[in-house]
Amino acid sequence: ARRITAPQIQARKGGDPIVALTSYHAHTARLLDNHVDVILVGDSLGMVMHGLETTVPVTVDMMIVHGRAVMRGTKRALVVVDLPFGSYEASPTEAFHTAARILKETGAGAVKLEGGRRMADTVRFLVDRGVPVMGHVGLTPQAINTLGSFKARGRDDAEASLILDDGRAIAEAGAFSLVVEAIAEPVARRITAEVGCPTIGIGGSPACDGQILVLEDMLGLGERVPKFVKKYANLGPDIEKAVATYAQEVRERAFPGPEHVYGPRLVQKPAKAS
Ligand code: KIV
Ligand code: NA
Repeated sequence: ARRITAPQIQARKGGDPIVALTSYHAHTARLLDNHVDVILVGDSLGMVMHGLETTVPVTVDMMIVHGRAVMRGTKRALVVVDLPFGSYEASPTEAFHTAARILKETGAGAVKLEGGRRMADTVRFLVDRGVPVMGHVGLTPQAINTLGSFKARGRDDAEASLILDDGRAIAEAGAFSLVVEAIAEPVARRITAEVGCPTIGIGGSPACDGQILVLEDMLGLGERVPKFVKKYANLGPDIEKAVATYAQEVRERAFPGPEHVYGPRLVQKPAKAS
């Protein structure tokens, strides 16, 4: 079976909700592959996998390492890789070189980039040259140093209309879908109604054409999670309990048990016929 493509996701505007999650490594990607439409190798891997404070220090090389791992673990979902901060903003040409390298070296089907009107020319430049682009407006974490905080966006009319303009510009530039992050529900509803491509919400309300969460956050592995995260599991405490039990059993010599131990071979292997 062929993978889901960016045009197939684009064609689902207003249809069945698009299901997306992040993944950064082969094993979790394999678990997601039969259940989601889109797997995002997000630059949130900087925090989740590498312990960074923000996504700002994430490099193209890091995105490629994790993008390849996710591609190896999957065969069905559309894999989208984030363009990291500093690798695409300066010009459409820079963005194309980075995006092309990521698609060539990972085999992923699309890239995502952050920003509204100021990135519209870049989105058009990439799409015209064979790079499917997922947009990302509202809260854009790569801009944390100018934004100053990770609080929700578009809660007053002035900011709401700027976000609406951003979303329209990116959709009109040819993005196949648009992530809207941490925005007030009325803005999410208006963007979704007014743009031609599907909106994928993260803290964007049920009005969106699809939803995405960071996998580790929804599994209960995240340290601090935003209001918009629902925890579908509580793996953090479960893992800690397992590790504590293992530690105790090793110290008491209760692990390994007899069933975990290799003995000598009891039966001689028959000689191969020559
Ligand atoms: O990096 C990421 O995980 C993202 C999603 C939260 C949309 O950009
Ligand atoms: Na991201």
